[in-house]
This record gives sequence, structure tokens and C-alpha cells, in this order.
Amino acid sequence: MAQLHTSAQKISNLTRAGFVCALALSTLALVGCKDKSGGAASSSTEIKIGEYASLTGDTATFGQSTHLGIQLAIDEAKSAGGVNGKTITLVTEDDASKPDQAQSVVTKLITQDKVVAVLGEVASTRSMRGGAVCQQNMIPMISPSSTNPRVTQVGNYVFRVCFTDDFQGAVDAKFAHDQGYKKVAVFKDLKSDYSVGFSDVFAKEFTKLGGAITKVQSYQSGDTDFKAQLNSLKTGNPDAVLVPGYYTEMGTIARQAKDVGLNVPLLGGDGWDSPELVPGAGDALEGSFFADHYFSTELKDPATVSFIAAFKAKNGKDPDALAALGYDTAKVLIDAIKRAKTIDGAGIRDAIAATKDFPGVTGKISIDANRNARKSALVFQIKGKEFKVFKTYTPEQVGQ
Ligand code: PHE
Repeated sequence: MAQLHTSAQKISNLTRAGFVCALALSTLALVGCKDKSGGAASSSTEIKIGEYASLTGDTATFGQSTHLGIQLAIDEAKSAGGVNGKTITLVTEDDASKPDQAQSVVTKLITQDKVVAVLGEVASTRSMRGGAVCQQNMIPMISPSSTNPRVTQVGNYVFRVCFTDDFQGAVDAKFAHDQGYKKVAVFKDLKSDYSVGFSDVFAKEFTKLGGAITKVQSYQSGDTDFKAQLNSLKTGNPDAVLVPGYYTEMGTIARQAKDVGLNVPLLGGDGWDSPELVPGAGDALEGSFFADHYFSTELKDPATVSFIAAFKAKNGKDPDALAALGYDTAKVLIDAIKRAKTIDGAGIRDAIAATKDFPGVTGKISIDANRNARKSALVFQIKGKEFKVFKTYTPEQVGQ
């Protein structure tokens, strides 16, 4: 009975929506009306932007930080009176750090919420899943921080505002070489496209610079005992060990490396960037290094300083690189929508593709022919439990 009632109501709602749509069509010849909530119809006065993020699950700090950056940019656009005379709304979905869920929430954002564009994800594996859905529906997507080259190869609707691992891996290789390391071991996460791709680029570039890869071992995110692999890596007598994983396993890996007597610096990438890295590792990562995006509260350019102040005022803490990239992603999208003067997927796509010298807080952003950005990287050292800027690398410095 209850069910009958519900479906009867649904039918009457649908009929009403159909009627309103027909009325609009006859009087105004509008092309919209595909969405009775008024979401993305071109007649709408509201622009909906979708975001998918790991707000919970294994890599929750990635999604949470990014979200705060995106939200700040959206709030700024709102207080500036919206975009092209329309209000702006952010619809955020949690993918729980799971690739399958990334795919389903992006489908929901596009088919139900009718967002005009999608922001996300951080982890490359999840960005590839969400990106495929965006590509299929011809809705532009911009990833703030997924670095695996394959992410934007999904298709011409998928962009990123950060560098790729072809650069980041080369930065770590050049850095290892500059530090005087001759022999480096590699420990990679087989479940992460990011980790596998990063390791390959590093090995290729480090070998080119005359270095040797002593041994390669692997783990899978979620593992808790790494001693067998670490013992094997130790037998190669490396000067350092590259571990391009996420912060989630790094603490345990670093502590177990010390336990087995592997007392050399560990070398990582942006995946280490989390407020949970050092608490998880204790002292075990002291002195180690990781490459990261071009953002730190130590950088003093005016745009960065005012972003940090606004972020701090709102959230009561400093932003990290993820938050800064989230902020830049939303800013680039809003700028593109302004220039596109349309909320049609193809129009926004073309405007994002035309982004040139956008003044981001993570460096200047120009979208290249492969829908990637070319930017500098920082190498941080973990010192006194803090991330300290140790070195900067431009693309030119690594021959790119
Ligand atoms: N670059 C990582 C990936 O592609 C994600 C990441 C970015 C993690 C920035 C931390 C900081 O999977």
C-alpha cells in the first residue's frame, strides 16, 4: 500500500515536471528542462560543481585537506556574487578511499546532480575510475593532485593542475644523484598506479644519471609486516631506499626499516604529505626526504601568503599542499567557466584547455596539449618532526 502510494506520487511529480517543461518549451523555447531540480539545465540560475574525495577511509587526510581548499575557493566565488550572474553550489561526495566508490559517486554527481564539471581525485587509481565516467558523459574533470601520467590519458575531458610522475620521479632521481647516492633500492606498492609508475620513472632516470638500482621489492597497501622485503633490500647495501607510497603505510615501513637495521634515508614523493605521516613514524623518518608539489608555508610570495591567511582564518590551521592544490583546482575551473560563458560540458572543456599562466598558489598554471600542468617541485626534509623545504627543482633542472 505504502509502495503504491509512493509510486503514485512519483508519477504525479513526473507529470508535473513534464508539464512545467512543456510550458517552458512552448513559451520560451528553452533547451534545458532535462533536470526538474533545475541543476544543470542551461536555463538554470545555478551552477553546480561536483567534487569526489576520500573524506573517509584509508587516505582520509587527502580528501579532507583537498576539500577545505576547494571549499574556500567556492566560498570566495560566492562572496564575489557567483559566476556569470549565476549562483554557485558545490556538491561533495565521499568515495571512502575506494576506486569502485569513486566510479559510482561520480556517476551520481553527473546523472543525478547534473554538475557542470567534476573536481577530484587525489589518488591516481581513483582519478582514473572517476575520469572514465566524466569522459563518457563529456563532463570536464580536473584532478588537483593525481600525478600518474595515465590519468589525463583517459580522454580529452580530463585535466590536472599538477605535474606528472614523469617529472616527480625524475626530480627524486636527480635529487638522489645530487645527494651523492650511487645505489638506491626501490620499495613499491603494487596496488597503487601512482607507486608503480613513480618507481619505474625513478629507476629509468636514476640509471641514466649513472646510479644503480640495487633491488626492487613490493608490498600492497593495507599490509602491516614489511620486514621480509626490508631485509632483502638491506642485503643490497643501498645508500637510500625509494618508497613512493602513501603516508598510510610509511610510518610502519620506516619503523620496521630501523628494526631490521636498514639505517639509510628513505626517499618519497607527494604521497607522504599528510599530518599523519610523522605521528605514524615517530622518529623513524627523521632526516628522510620527499618530493612534493610547490607549496609550503615557508614560501613567501604574496598570493601564497594571503591564501594561507584566509585558510587559517576559516579552518584554524595551516593549509598543506593538498589544500593548496584543491584551492587552485576550483579557481582554475571557475576562471574557465567565466571565460566559457556557457555551462555546457564542451564549452567548459575548451576553456579549461585554454588556461594559460593562471596565477595559482602552487605556481603558475598553464594547461598543455596533454591536459597536464608544468610546475616546479620542492624536496622536503623531515627535521624536528616538521617538513622543511630542502631544495627546489624546476622542469629545466631535470631536463624537461
Ligand atoms: N600524487 C598522488 C597520486 O597520484 C596523490 C597525492 C598527491 C598524494 C598529493 C599526496 C599529495 O596518487
